[in-house]
Amino acid sequence: MRTKPLEDFCVWLEQTPLSEGIQQTLWVVPAIQTVHILAVAAVLISALMINLRLLNLCNADQTTASIFSRFVKVIWWALPILLLSGALLIVGEPARSLANDVFQLKMLLLIGVVILTMVLHKRLGDDELFWESSAARQMTARTLALVSMGCWLGIICAGRWIAYTYT
Ligand code: HEM
Repeated sequence: MRTKPLEDFCVWLEQTPLSEGIQQTLWVVPAIQTVHILAVAAVLISALMINLRLLNLCNADQTTASIFSRFVKVIWWALPILLLSGALLIVGEPARSLANDVFQLKMLLLIGVVILTMVLHKRLGDDELFWESSAARQMTARTLALVSMGCWLGIICAGRWIAYTYT
């Protein structure tokens, strides 16, 4: 989606001192991208551990709740780092992302998977064995784990694709 107000905002943002500073200092963008990618790795590994447990494919000797409580913290810590580093990349070249359909899809997937993770986690707050307590719940947990992994992989592909869909 590319609207006139959005394009005007991008033009304004590109001319701010912060954006000009990012554009003119050669090492800033690679440094921010490095931070972004390290945070992506932390989120992805944590999401993988949680989802593999929900799928009952690893750590079967530990409850879903204990795996969640260990790894969900990493996700909640890494997300603000992703938000900040992503925001700085946007400020450096606003139209490249903000007015890009693939970036917008990435943000929608991100909102979706954050809500999904919160819902999965919330259930465990009420009852530690919630996702293990019946066959129907185990099936729901497995389905949601697959949806969650699909969203995270979609976010990563979209993140990489932004560079190739910028016109
Ligand atoms: C929290 C909000 C986030 C914002 C605002 C954001 C923003 C951005 C921006 C602006 C880029 C640069 C794209 C380009 O110019 O080529 C980028 C790259 C990327 N992002 Fe994000 N991002 C966020 C979260 C995430 C998350 C959660 C993931 C994956 C788990 C992710 C994965 C990536 C990947 C793989 C790249 C490509 C990096 C590269 O090619 O060097 N991002 N992101």
